[in-house]
Amino acid sequence: MENGNDQVLNIVELALTAHIYNNNEQLDENDLPPNIRKGYWNAKDRKVDRPIVVSESTIDRIYGIPHGGALVKSLPFVAFEEFGARINLTVPDLAAKWFTNHDSLSRVEQNPVLAYYFGKTGLADVDYRKVRSLNRPKETDRGWIQSLIDEIAGEGEEAEDMLKLVAISAPEDVRESLQKLVLTDEQIEEVQQIVKAIQYREYLKEIELFEIGKLLFVGPPGTGKTSVARALSKELGLPFLEVRLSMVTSQYLGETSKNIGKVFTLAKRLSPCILFIDEFDYVAKTRLSDEHGAIRRAVNMLLKSIDDVSLVDDGVLLIGATNHPRLLDSAAWRRFDKVVDFPLPDKDMREEIFKKILSPLQGTFDTRELADITDGCTGSDLRLILREAVLRGLSEERTDLSQDDLKEAVSNFSRRFELKMSEYENI
Ligand SMILES: Nc1ncnc2c1ncn2[C@@H]1O[C@H](COP(=O)(O)OP(=O)(O)O)[C@@H](O)[C@H]1O
Ligand SMILES: [Mg+2]
Repeated sequence: MENGNDQVLNIVELALTAHIYNNNEQLDENDLPPNIRKGYWNAKDRKVDRPIVVSESTIDRIYGIPHGGALVKSLPFVAFEEFGARINLTVPDLAAKWFTNHDSLSRVEQNPVLAYYFGKTGLADVDYRKVRSLNRPKETDRGWIQSLIDEIAGEGEEAEDMLKLVAISAPEDVRESLQKLVLTDEQIEEVQQIVKAIQYREYLKEIELFEIGKLLFVGPPGTGKTSVARALSKELGLPFLEVRLSMVTSQYLGETSKNIGKVFTLAKRLSPCILFIDEFDYVAKTRLSDEHGAIRRAVNMLLKSIDDVSLVDDGVLLIGATNHPRLLDSAAWRRFDKVVDFPLPDKDMREEIFKKILSPLQGTFDTRELADITDGCTGSDLRLILREAVLRGLSEERTDLSQDDLKEAVSNFSRRFELKMSEYENI
């Protein structure tokens, strides 16, 4: 819960931001902190209109403070116009000085508009360019992505069909994060390289290095392929477009290759973004049973589209994922610059995963022992084990779990796992 002082600081920060923004045309939407930008977002024109007006209703919308006027009207640099419930700064310099005297450097460091003014006037020791580069840009806002989607949807039936093939999420809506995942050294290295490649995209273009930005994630189900791809969207602040090839190809065959083309068109329009193609093996699988040549055309379309898309030129990071690497032929492999392996986690990784997934729980656990008895389990299996233990606890009205609860869940899980395996063996 915010105290009154924080609320006053919020309002003064907003009033100062508005004043500086309105008076400096060179500042743009990406100088505004995301919460303020959202509060003034004009979805139709996809921008923030000048001037920004601070009123009780905007304060309420942005900070959830219903009667902001009363909180600040006694400050010597504020004029509160009761009638329109508007807040203006009468002496902006004084407001800025007052603000710096209230231990608010951390706010300036997270608000490029303030950093611009406070740095220029020497009121604070901040680097405007750095603060701006750390500010989440408008392209990552849900509102920005939604307005692009609406625009595309408005173009007619074709466009609407295209949107049905792809699940689109804004990075701010992605729940996965790299911090919550346990990665192999190779995976960490790949992730770091791709993060750098995106940061230095302009440089790569200059030196004409285009062979980057097409990754293929390979490994058994439940080893974190989808999670890492989504976490990258959050980390990089890029919209996430997820395509299931089974969906694209399950439609009327003649349409398949057209659909694949549409997906790539969409990705280029939403760029910079991540295009995640799951079940990459699906095409190869269906190709084996293809008698009409329609699937073959679709595969060719897919491969051609992959050739035609580029991270450096188009801002599309392509990530394919497959559980069945053996089904892919060399024509498919060749299209990717990097194949990233997602192995079953070893004992150390399993222990790390247990540590992470158990950390929000009450109780102390011997994660080493748990790692010992879960050989062959994926990260997803470990989560299922945790779920089982938690639900069992809840059925006895308990939220505190013991090592025994988890061990029991492991043994139940293994029993089911063996059952499942023996079913497979009978096929
Ligand atoms: N290495 C890992 N570290 C932490 N959690 C993992 C890991 N691998 C898988 N998980 C968890 O298992 C679940 C399923 O993973 P997912 O990314 O869907 O796997 P895949 O796409 O490879 O089938 C997710 O909730 C994920 O958090
Ligand atoms: Mg997956």
